[in-house]
Amino acid sequence: MELAQIKVYSKMGWDYFINKRVDVSLWRQFRSVSKITYRYLTNKVNIIDTADFKVSYDSAAQSFDQWNDKMGIVSDKIVDLEFIASNTKPWHLLDFGCGTGYITKKLMKSVGHDVYKITGIDLSSNMIDICKSRINDERVTFLNVDGIEYLKNAPDNEYDGIFCTWALEYVPQDPFFTHIHRALKDRGQLGLAVSKRGTIVEVESCIMEIMAEYPDMVKGVLDISCFLPEDMRELKKKVVKYGFNPVKMEEGFVELSFDSPEEMFDWLLGTGDIAGAMQMFKDADFFKSHVLEKIRAKLYKDGKYTTYQTYVYGIFAKI
Ligand SMILES: C[S@@+](CC[C@H](N)C(=O)[O-])C[C@H]1O[C@@H](n2cnc3c(N)ncnc32)[C@H](O)[C@@H]1O
Repeated sequence: MELAQIKVYSKMGWDYFINKRVDVSLWRQFRSVSKITYRYLTNKVNIIDTADFKVSYDSAAQSFDQWNDKMGIVSDKIVDLEFIASNTKPWHLLDFGCGTGYITKKLMKSVGHDVYKITGIDLSSNMIDICKSRINDERVTFLNVDGIEYLKNAPDNEYDGIFCTWALEYVPQDPFFTHIHRALKDRGQLGLAVSKRGTIVEVESCIMEIMAEYPDMVKGVLDISCFLPEDMRELKKKVVKYGFNPVKMEEGFVELSFDSPEEMFDWLLGTGDIAGAMQMFKDADFFKSHVLEKIRAKLYKDGKYTTYQTYVYGIFAKI
């Protein structure tokens, strides 16, 4: 485990303790962290990584559209319609982590020139299969690749716009921003929407409690060395460092309310919102039954089971 990751874990641990986000005694938390660390050091616990995210999104692909039923209103905002409609010559646009093609479809509708190229890339083959079955247009290409590997080989000054909704948290940051900056044309735009640190914290607390109560059932911990910004300021600072100017930024939250714990669980799993979480435990049935129990006990509010997706989005121009 890298030092940066240990730092993030400790910060999160203290945050959970001080803000009483976990209803588990300090002693039990300490015992659990020690056990999980020992099991990690003896190779019984692994780090949930890209391969696990692929498994999660492959199995979420068929039900993924529900994500955009709730979060599409935020994703829509990363496309600067005036900029997109302003092209006078063929443009090349990239949809990074395209999922089932929500942003690609939006770009196809908004682009102001008939001759254009859009490339959609995604790690999940099932997501890409859905895109291909839905969009059959010679101007649009979908590729099943690791986005970072793809960016590394992208030509300089190739793209007029690169868009990435809700995938930034799964990729290493430095190659992502370095290669996007290199691959964009001058004044090309980068549109980003990303969950904030502490998003669906209510659900995360449930999962942390299960880890604290059943450390022997833990077989993996999430690689959270990837980036979730604390707020708009932190995202701006990061993107500016790589040579971009913010055009527009905003932060906020979307309330996710469900009639039953089962409905909430199915949405969280079926959209990949808790991608990787199931793989943290030895047994999928154990994970499901315990998460349902926690949701039922802790997340009931005004007749609904509720959590909050917190986000920040931004449109940036390459300097
Ligand atoms: C929450 S979904 C968002 C999908 C789409 N951008 C949207 O807003 O509808 C995240 C997507 O990122 C993809 N993803 C995760 N890691 C990736 C990587 N390293 N390279 C490419 N895609 C990746 C996942 O497979 C998944 O389809």
